[in-house]
Amino acid sequence: MMISVENLVKRYDGHTVLDCLNFTVEEGDLFGFLGPNGAGKTTMIRILTAVLRADSGNLIIDGYDVSSEPLGVRRIINALPESNGYYEWMTAREYLEFFAGLYEHKGPRQETDELLEAVGLQERKNNLIRTFSRGMRQRLGIARALINKPKVLFLDEPTNGLDPAGRRDVLELLMTLNRERGMTLFLSTHLLDDVERLCNRVAIINYGKIVREGSLDKVKGKRTLEDTFLFSTKDGGQ
Ligand SMILES: Nc1ncnc2c1ncn2[C@@H]1O[C@H](COP(=O)(O)OP(=O)(O)OP(=O)(O)O)[C@@H](O)[C@H]1O
Ligand SMILES: [Mg+2]
Repeated sequence: MMISVENLVKRYDGHTVLDCLNFTVEEGDLFGFLGPNGAGKTTMIRILTAVLRADSGNLIIDGYDVSSEPLGVRRIINALPESNGYYEWMTAREYLEFFAGLYEHKGPRQETDELLEAVGLQERKNNLIRTFSRGMRQRLGIARALINKPKVLFLDEPTNGLDPAGRRDVLELLMTLNRERGMTLFLSTHLLDDVERLCNRVAIINYGKIVREGSLDKVKGKRTLEDTFLFSTKDGGQ
């Protein structure tokens, strides 16, 4: 088991935003955390990545307890946050070299180039980030998150704001990372279609509670995901 979440509770100012969540993620899963705006997706990812503390519950990632061993967790994970700050005046390659330096992972320049190639930015590696589209920025953010060769990659709405081609590129990239590197992926999204295209397992969250969880087939088998999905999916077919 790669991730185990038990009885996790998070409150903001006495208001419960994650209400006793239980779920597991297996190694190699493409796990979708699906829910509408305000459901608690970003909060969950921030807790899993040891940015934020839960109020109670147990959280284990690859044998590390997230609350007592956050540094161990940070070594083996990485994340693409909801909004990434970019240094507009840097080139894509400078940006990755800067972050590789922060990780004390001063690999040869070749490693940075390989990452840029993996995310399809090799042609643009010497261009300023200022000139990048949103889709290119997301792919650069994913390259940055690969620097420490994480076992688990968390992505908070990675396709948000992308056009159909940009979305397809990001989903294909994630599929490739899973298939070729065996990376476990945990992504949040409000798009049912993303989950159907990419994920093998899913937890559906609404108002801080998991309303359904399991393999995509199982969740679909009970009723269709559309029936289960208690909120608008109008933009799901982008
Ligand atoms: N720092 C905070 N202080 C107080 N309340 C917060 C804070 N951050 C989030 N919340 C509340 O917690 C709930 C869950 O927010 P969260 O950002 O996790 O949802 P989300 O599923 O990521 O939503 P979205 O799809 O809009 O990104 C919301 O009701 C939100 O208002
Ligand atoms: Mg969010």
